[in-house]
Amino acid sequence: MNARTFPPAEQPLVSWPEEGVTRVPFQVFSDQEIYEAEQKKIFRGPIWNYLCLEVEIPNKGDVRTTWIGDTPIIVTRDETGKIHAMVNRCAHKGALVCLKERDNVESLSCVYHAWNYSLDGQLKSVAFCNGIRGKGGMPDDFDVASHRLQRIKVATFSGIIFGTFSEETPPLEEYLGESIMRFLARNMDHPLKILGTHSQIIHNNWKLYAENVRDSYHATLLHTFYTTFKVNRLDMDGGIVLSDKKWHHISYAKRATLDVADEYKQAQVHSARYESALAAPQLLDAWNGFDDNITHSIQTVFPNFVSQLTLNSLAVRIFVPRGVDKTELYWIFLGYETDTEEQTRMRVMQSNLTGAAGLVALEDGCINSFVQRGTKSSPDAEAFIEMGGKVAESNESSRATEAAVRGFWHGYREIMGFK
Ligand code: FES
Ligand SMILES: [Fe+2]
Repeated sequence: MNARTFPPAEQPLVSWPEEGVTRVPFQVFSDQEIYEAEQKKIFRGPIWNYLCLEVEIPNKGDVRTTWIGDTPIIVTRDETGKIHAMVNRCAHKGALVCLKERDNVESLSCVYHAWNYSLDGQLKSVAFCNGIRGKGGMPDDFDVASHRLQRIKVATFSGIIFGTFSEETPPLEEYLGESIMRFLARNMDHPLKILGTHSQIIHNNWKLYAENVRDSYHATLLHTFYTTFKVNRLDMDGGIVLSDKKWHHISYAKRATLDVADEYKQAQVHSARYESALAAPQLLDAWNGFDDNITHSIQTVFPNFVSQLTLNSLAVRIFVPRGVDKTELYWIFLGYETDTEEQTRMRVMQSNLTGAAGLVALEDGCINSFVQRGTKSSPDAEAFIEMGGKVAESNESSRATEAAVRGFWHGYREIMGFK
């Protein structure tokens, strides 16, 4: 019998605790190899990534640059109004082609050697293609038609443009699922206008932010502003809805249903200061824009998209990995074209709740870095995530649960093959 040799079996990058999604090995927040595998399996894998909003590229020739994981991306609207997306990497030697966040152009031109592309990413012309005075230039078999910027497949929903690298990705509607589409449309399917944007670097792995936005349990403990001023508390009616595959979620609260729970009176539970008052209470002036009485909602789409509507502060966020322990968080604050001047003023005022220096959201940037620093030297230790039970299921009677965090890890483990 012939002796045969086999290549060594591929070692799993992480050994996940047998308890499953109620445990998360800290290694996943600081391991470079896992970070690189995520870029391939998640961001460049069979999923839909948020790219930008249609309202950011309303006109023919508009260009918006963005990111899919750490890959730079260009989104354009061509002469016919069609939206395209492509990798921002020249087909010649790989330079970035578009350098501005937003632009309006007739074609895309690389500054290095002036290769020029149409708005759908097809190469149109090459400088000195026939050399100078008939000398030099490209070989006879060079054909511009066979070169282009790498295409990204796009699909839109409620004015949101998504993109995917993979042909295996299911249709966008199937990926989002019914409940997620319905709520996204509630908030976003209106003529949108951009009120402002900003971004911030947070010093943590991107998945800590993915957990944080799904963690309804912390909102009333860490964010004492919400508790004190009764914006978002767990003793209001509210719930968590997970998408069919558990990857995405909606968390919501109804401010008018507040029924103060005894647990909030126990000083050891949190540090809210009930005697506090706002010098400018108009900060929280809000109108009820919907019939369902929901006054606070956070919605995610796996892996890194968030939509919020807190009181009237409508925003989308995207958190972009910038290395294993660094993430860039982009915010776009929105209103509707139909808003009155007073409503716009109220939305802008309420935007002070969130963002890098916001009255609430600054704590998230801070706490995620505390977790990064706390876990970095303990890759073999693990998080304990059993609040609200051990399963990842919707719960429309309580938000004292980490169900949506477990839902994220369901998706993550599935796509990374970490079983
Ligand atoms: S790298 Fe773009 S034209 Fe040379
Ligand atoms: Fe938070």
